Amino acid sequence: MKFTYFGHACFGIEVNGYYLLFDPFITDNELASEINVDEIEADFIFLSHGHFDHVADAVRIAKRTEATVVANFEIYSWLGKQGVENAHPMNHGGTWKFDFGSVKMVNAVHSSELPDGSYGGNPAGFVFTTSEGNFYYAGDTALHMDMKLIPLTSKDLHFCILPIGDNFTMGINDAILAAEFVKCDRVIGVHYDTFGFIKIDHKEAMKSFSKHDKELMLPSIGKTIEL
Ligand code: NI
Ligand code: MN
Repeated sequence: MKFTYFGHACFGIEVNGYYLLFDPFITDNELASEINVDEIEADFIFLSHGHFDHVADAVRIAKRTEATVVANFEIYSWLGKQGVENAHPMNHGGTWKFDFGSVKMVNAVHSSELPDGSYGGNPAGFVFTTSEGNFYYAGDTALHMDMKLIPLTSKDLHFCILPIGDNFTMGINDAILAAEFVKCDRVIGVHYDTFGFIKIDHKEAMKSFSKHDKELMLPSIGKTIEL
């Protein structure tokens, strides 16, 4: 699998020849000014919740690429009103088999309001099961006990993507516990540095993870890593 970081909580994962894009927030992210939003590839776009810093570029990219947008029912309905025709609604606890692998929508502890003020439903994370490996994207969330359910049904997570910026989501110490809860020692950190409230010390963060025998990866914006 190939992982490309586009800044904040936006990233792409190439798996089984399909390009999955997550929580697109690029044009309003000063740190991602090098990224051309109109060149990003997507066969599927996953939206964890309705906050602007996760959906801002979703409609634009969905219309250009005709990617299937996967989100909870409330966001799915909102996308329809924005003219996005190709979308797939899910809700918490449900699994669906897509062409690249299967996806389960799981709980996240956060809030969710769409940019126009409409109700965004409950925030979510996603667990992916694919022939190239399994992985978990937590979305914006606090540390919570339901994460312990994930390894009961999704064994051998190859890596997980966790928010680490604190203030709006988990910080470093809770993210280390989250990695323990889901039984995955390889973590890609997201949702940090973008705004004043979530700036982190990269070296300290990586040191804290390695003290607990875990690896924290913080690829720079625009960089692709092989996993
Ligand atoms: Ni949020
Ligand atoms: Mn956010």
